[in-house]
Amino acid sequence: MINKLDVLGQAEITLSRFLKKVDPLSSDFKITNRGVWASECFALCVMCDLLGIETYIESGVYKGQSLLSLRAYYDEDMVIHGIDFFYYNIPHEAIVRGITISHKYTVGDSNIILPEQISKNSQFSFGVFIDGPKGWDALKLAEKIIGYDNVKFIGIHDSYLPFDTKDEHYKFRKHLENNFNTWSTDDVDFVRKYNYLDNTRWLEYLEENQLGGILPYNKIKFLHDGSKYDSRLLKSYGPTITFIWEK
Ligand SMILES: C[S@@+](CC[C@H](N)C(=O)[O-])C[C@H]1O[C@@H](n2cnc3c(N)ncnc32)[C@H](O)[C@@H]1O
Repeated sequence: MINKLDVLGQAEITLSRFLKKVDPLSSDFKITNRGVWASECFALCVMCDLLGIETYIESGVYKGQSLLSLRAYYDEDMVIHGIDFFYYNIPHEAIVRGITISHKYTVGDSNIILPEQISKNSQFSFGVFIDGPKGWDALKLAEKIIGYDNVKFIGIHDSYLPFDTKDEHYKFRKHLENNFNTWSTDDVDFVRKYNYLDNTRWLEYLEENQLGGILPYNKIKFLHDGSKYDSRLLKSYGPTITFIWEK
């Protein structure tokens, strides 16, 4: 079972290739609406590297922020498979960013397709990222596949930690922590070291939300501007990926 130190150690190794291949700080790096943050794409690459993943499979592709970042990072070295209810025209974004489009895209319900793909391909190790369905439905889907030996990690998005203990997100996150081995991208050491990867995203977020809604806790905390510090909303930062493994 991997632990936080393994993740942080791998992050140091993964970083230089990530900066070169995904280049989240360049002006060409566009954050798509509802897409995951660059630091979260980084965490997905760290996990894939650490666990020697042969096939990355994502439930909930939308406009491809995470899928294309993984594609950019791995060139042709990794089988990448996305599943979504709808077919989104992500190739345009890929062409703009110079990414070879060599991933598989299956349109349909992941609740059926994801377990099928994993059971049919038991010879390959899988890293799984669930970014739709969400919340308890994401967990139900994760539970269908977590027992397979070839599933090396499952990341669940939007598992941030609010202050309000009655908030469903709080209950969800605590349920994950109490029932599984977990590592989350709001790990304070990870956040301290890699929050700058989200600089592009953060600027866009500020413009869109003017500090309302889900605040990126890491950025607020590191702004060094007392007037902008607001710790009431979240202990964590939105959105946050929690990786789970069986206990
Ligand atoms: C927030 S978006 C994903 C964003 C994407 N990962 C990114 O970084 O750009 C969620 C997506 O999940 C898809 N989705 C939700 N439930 C699903 C299911 N059961 N099967 C397949 N796709 C699903 C939705 O159609 C939507 O496109």
